[in-house]
Order: sequence, then C-alpha cells, then structure tokens
Amino acid sequence: MKKLFVLTLALLAVLPALRAEEGMWLPMLISQRIEDMQAHGFRLTAEDVYSINQASLKDAVVLFGSGCTGEVVSRDGLLFTNHHCGYGQIQQHSSVEHDYLKDGFWAMNRGEELPNPGLTVSFLERMDEVTAAVLKGYVPTMSEAQRDSVVRVNSDAIVKSVANPDKGVRARVEALYYANQYFLFVYKVYRDVRLVGAPPSSIGKFGGDTDNWMWPRHTGDFSIFRIYADKNNEPADYSEDNVPFHPKRFFEISRAGVQEGDFTFVYGCPGSTKEYVTSDEVRYVGEVSDPQKIALRTLRLDILQKYMSQDQAVRIQYSSKYANISNAWKKWQGESKGIARLHTVAAKQDFERRFAAWARGTRYEGLLDRLSGLYARRNPAFRAYEYYTETVRTVELLSFAAQVQAALAGGREVAPVSGRFYKDYYQPIDEEIFVAMLSAFDKNLEPGYKPEYFLRKLAEYGSVEAWRDDLYARSLFTDPARVAALTADDLAAVEADPAWELYDAFSQWYLAELRPVISETAQDINLAYRAYMRAQMEFEPGKAFYPDANLTLRVAYGHVAGYSPSDAVYYAPVSTLKGIIEKDNPDIFDYDIPQALRDIYAAGGHDAQPVCFLATNHTSGGNSGSPVINADGRLIGINFDRVWEGTMSDIVFDPDYCRNISLDIRYLLFVVKEIGHADWLLDEMVFAD
Ligand code: ARG
Ligand code: GLU
Repeated sequence: MKKLFVLTLALLAVLPALRAEEGMWLPMLISQRIEDMQAHGFRLTAEDVYSINQASLKDAVVLFGSGCTGEVVSRDGLLFTNHHCGYGQIQQHSSVEHDYLKDGFWAMNRGEELPNPGLTVSFLERMDEVTAAVLKGYVPTMSEAQRDSVVRVNSDAIVKSVANPDKGVRARVEALYYANQYFLFVYKVYRDVRLVGAPPSSIGKFGGDTDNWMWPRHTGDFSIFRIYADKNNEPADYSEDNVPFHPKRFFEISRAGVQEGDFTFVYGCPGSTKEYVTSDEVRYVGEVSDPQKIALRTLRLDILQKYMSQDQAVRIQYSSKYANISNAWKKWQGESKGIARLHTVAAKQDFERRFAAWARGTRYEGLLDRLSGLYARRNPAFRAYEYYTETVRTVELLSFAAQVQAALAGGREVAPVSGRFYKDYYQPIDEEIFVAMLSAFDKNLEPGYKPEYFLRKLAEYGSVEAWRDDLYARSLFTDPARVAALTADDLAAVEADPAWELYDAFSQWYLAELRPVISETAQDINLAYRAYMRAQMEFEPGKAFYPDANLTLRVAYGHVAGYSPSDAVYYAPVSTLKGIIEKDNPDIFDYDIPQALRDIYAAGGHDAQPVCFLATNHTSGGNSGSPVINADGRLIGINFDRVWEGTMSDIVFDPDYCRNISLDIRYLLFVVKEIGHADWLLDEMVFAD
C-alpha cells in the first residue's frame, strides 16, 4: 500500500502539473474558470473572452449555417470555416465547366465572390439566465406536460420581447442541465454570406473517408467566406449594393506555430453530449445501439463499395451518401470501444452505488431505480425503432415513394424531388440493400417487435428475395417517365404501389406500436434526469458541472498533445506536408493530390510545412470550423475532427485518448498563397506572433 502511494506520488511528479481538458463551458460564466485557464497558460481575462460591455472574442465567432462554427478574420468580414462545412455551397456553384469541388475556387477580387441564398451566420449578442421568468406560474404539483406548456408560453413571450426580425435579431430560450436552468440566447443573423475561396477537394478533403476520424491526418479542411451587410452594417438579403460587414472583433492570426504542451482554446458550438446519464443508458449505447447500427451500416457500406469500385459514374452518385453513412459508423466504433475500454458502465455503477447510499432518506431516494425501470420499459421499443430506421428506412426507393406521395398529397410538384432522386440513384445497389436490410430485420428483431404486415408479406412471398423481385418489378417508382407523368389524380395509384405500401405499413406500425411507449417514457426519463442532475450537483458540491452541449456557444480549453492509441505506439501531435507526399497516390482517389502541390514540394524547402495538430480540447459535432486560439487569443488553427479512439467523449471524457484535430492555420495560409495565388486575401488578414 505504502509502495503504491510512493509510486503514485512519483507519477504525479512527472505528469504536467495541471491538466486542462474535460469541459465545454458557458462563455457567460467563464469567470468561474478563468483562474484555471490562466493557471494553464491563458494570458487574457474573462472580459476578453465574453463581455456585453466591450468587444470580446465571442464577437468574432459565429454559428455557420445550422451545424458548424466559423470565425471572422478581418475587419471586412472575412470568415473561415471547414471545407466540409462549406461543401454544400461549393457544390452548388460547381458544374462540369466550373468544377470548384475538384479544382477549388478562388475569388480574385470582391466582385468575384459568390452569393449563397439560404446561408446564414449567427453572432451571439448576449446570453442571460432566465430560469425564474421561464418557470413563472409553474408549481411542483403540475405534470410534466403542464410544465412544458408553462415553459413554452413564457419562453415565447421572452423571445418575442427581444427578437427583432427586421434587424436580424433572433432569440432562443435553451434548457440547460436537463431544464434545471434556462438561458436566453440573442443572436444577430447575417444572411448575405459569399464564397471567397476553397481548396480543391484533393486538399480540402484529402484522405476522404479513409482518414476521417483518424490520426495522422493531413486534410486541408477549410473554406473561406465573407459576410456582407447593408450600408449601416445591418443584416440584409443579398444585394449588389451590400458592402463587407465590419465586425466588432476579429481574430488576429499567429504564425508562431504550436508546440506540444501549448495552451489551446476552442470557441464554438458543440451539438450534443450526454455526460451525466446513468449506467443503463451507457450500456444501451455502448453494447446495444452502437454495435447494431455499426453492423447494419457495415452491410450497406460493403454493398456501396462493391458497386462504386466497379463504375466511376456510380462512385460519383454515391460518394456523398457513402461519406454520410461512414461518418457516424466510424464514430460509433470509437465510441463503443472507448466505453468498453474505460469500463464506463462499471464506473457509473460504482458511482450509482455511492450515490444511492447518500440519497437514502433524501428526496432522491429511489430515483435511480425509477430511471432503471424506465429504461427497462423503453429499451425494447427503442431498439426496434433504431433498427427500423437503420434498415427499412434506408431503402431508397421506399423513402422516395413516401416523398412523392407527400408531394402529391400536398399539392406540390414531383419534379424537384424526382430530379434529385434519380440523379444519384442506382437500382442494383438499392435492391441489394433491400434484401440485406429486410433480412437483418427479420433475423434480429424479436417477433413481438415486427409489424403484422411484414410477417404476412414475408410468409406470402416465402423469401425476402422473392419480395424484392416482385416489388422492384411492379413499382412505378423505378420508372422516371411514369413518375414524371404523375399528377394529383394519381394519388390513389401511388398509394397502391408496393413501395409506398411497405413504407406506409411500417410507419403505421411505428406510430401505433413504438412511438407511444417511446414518447411516454421519454417524458418520465427527462423528468427523472432533471432531478438526477440536481442530485449529482448536491452529491458532489466541489465539482464543476458544465452543461451538456446543445449547439450553444462554448469554451473548451486544453493543450497541444499527442497520444498513444495502442501498446507501443505513440502519435506525435503535428503532421506536415511530408506526410501528404508519403500518402500521395494518383491511383487512389482519396490520396491523389494536385500536381501543383507535388511540384511545390519537389522544388524543396517545404518538408516541415505544418498541416494539422492534435490537442486535448473537449469538442463534439458542431465544433467543426471552430477557431483554435492560443494563450494570447490569436488564431492558430481551425478545429475539424476528433480521433476515433476518443469519440466516447460525448459520454465520457478520457484525457489519455480524447483529442481534437485542427488544421494548422499556417497550412491555410500556405494553400491560399501557393495553390490559390490569392495573396489579396492575406493582405487583409492581421498577423501578430
Ligand atoms: N468527422 C468529421 C465530422 O464529424 C468530418 C466529416 C466530413 N468528412 C468526411 N470525410 N466524411 O464532421
Ligand atoms: N467533424 C465534426 C463536425 O462537423 C467535428 C468532429 C467532432 O465530432 O468532434 O462538427
């Protein structure tokens, strides 16, 4: 025992004195963390990070679209985000003659910047705690549904009192800590945002899905936009008369580079985490949900892969679908492995035993048993629901039938829906997926959780294959000409189609059999978690609790660090251009770099050009495009990913494995200059080392 103690002390002595990593903190409350941040090397103040009295770093950060982050980098509204965040816009402007996805795009002056209808950026003006106002009129005897309606009415009134749509001011009331607290977020939304620059995908998406979620990484995952405003610097619809927006604050850029151990700070909008759930939920995610979804997606990806490797046209049709399917698939693998490696279920159970002992005789007694009971009721239905969405719902023809039916029933045109569908549809893939998915559904769900319709049809046909043969032979949806000719009068014919019939039968089954259990238990589970969250705070009064992510602005701080993914392997934290050249392979799509990059490298002198780096910041989906900032508040990188071994950080953070991956800002500068020859953009940036 004594020996162990001495050993522990010795170990502590060699570890960095302090480790900053876990946590996504509310900017408004950053004064509670600022001493710790400063102890880790941060040299600015809480007011520099977030202030409503003066310009602060928050005024240079935006929610980009509705799922990414971006940062302003010049007094003329220049904005950085990820290539994968601007992908949709870059694609929209691309055609066979101007393939900006393939070749990149560089405006050479402001007149060449391209408008993007529908794209917005939202600045957080301020946030306020509004719990008392939101709960006004609520009494504890109310049901959860009554409480919800009180919250809704009060929130709407609060939002209405501050929002000003004419001025682009939007507001939202968000529940934090399982609705123990409510915060008002007031945003200023700009809606003329133009595309300024994007590297070719062979840089911006270098490594593709092969390298996604992985280190070593060499992706130049950035794109550049500019915010425009009216003459008064206010939000406005796109107009030629608009002028570049002048922000209250923008990031200065540091070219000093990063060293292992350097303080880093990510300012952005993580989407969703669940750090305070019980062992039951963690077990469900790690041992049931993730594995079943991974297995189903493996089947689909294998089918896609087979056809994509045989045919270039099919590869293009399905590359974006493949990327979507594989992104979560890979993330879940890291998540379930991480949960197993950390023994999170056992660790939570241990915590729950101590908690339950403490809770005895308090108002929290029995709370965990109640939650357990709720999960026991919910899980079979929820598992069936998840299985259904990952199987029957992934057969493209069925979903297409539903979209056409909805268009006809709603009096809308079918052409836009069908145009999009057929452009990227390859029936042999879909037929194979139909067989694989319905077979899996048949094999892996308990009989009580299969629709009557499914069992009857399967018995009638005798096999999934026979069902497929008949359905794809008879369905009108396999024939673009017939779909093009559909009018509102054909609604009955559409609803008699075997593809629609199957889709609809499953929807009805879900609504009747699964949803009632799922939504009813969800209400009770929320209610129990509200108490459990409060109870955890009372149980551990010394601990700092950050709220789960919900796409609101957060601060995560840490430091540049490598990691050891497995025995005898150590990953250094910085990747360089040398590694791109090592991976370069003209025969492999994901690794075929532009010739210009090969030439620049061959000319010499760029071996050490940094590309990406790792740090210990606690990030999640939505943090893509977030500014990575140094101890002096200067921009050193753009966050774009995590390492897959650390993706369980949405549930449990492990300082040994959880790393965020950022583009080194110096690689962006290099690509803008050497590949884009867009030096005019560098001229408006401000550098300070
Ligand atoms: N894994 C990153 C994220 O979750 C990047 C995804 C886009 N890149 C890709 N190769 N699919 O969004
Ligand atoms: N690529 C993710 C995004 O689009 C960020 C990676 C993560 O989940 O941390 O937000």
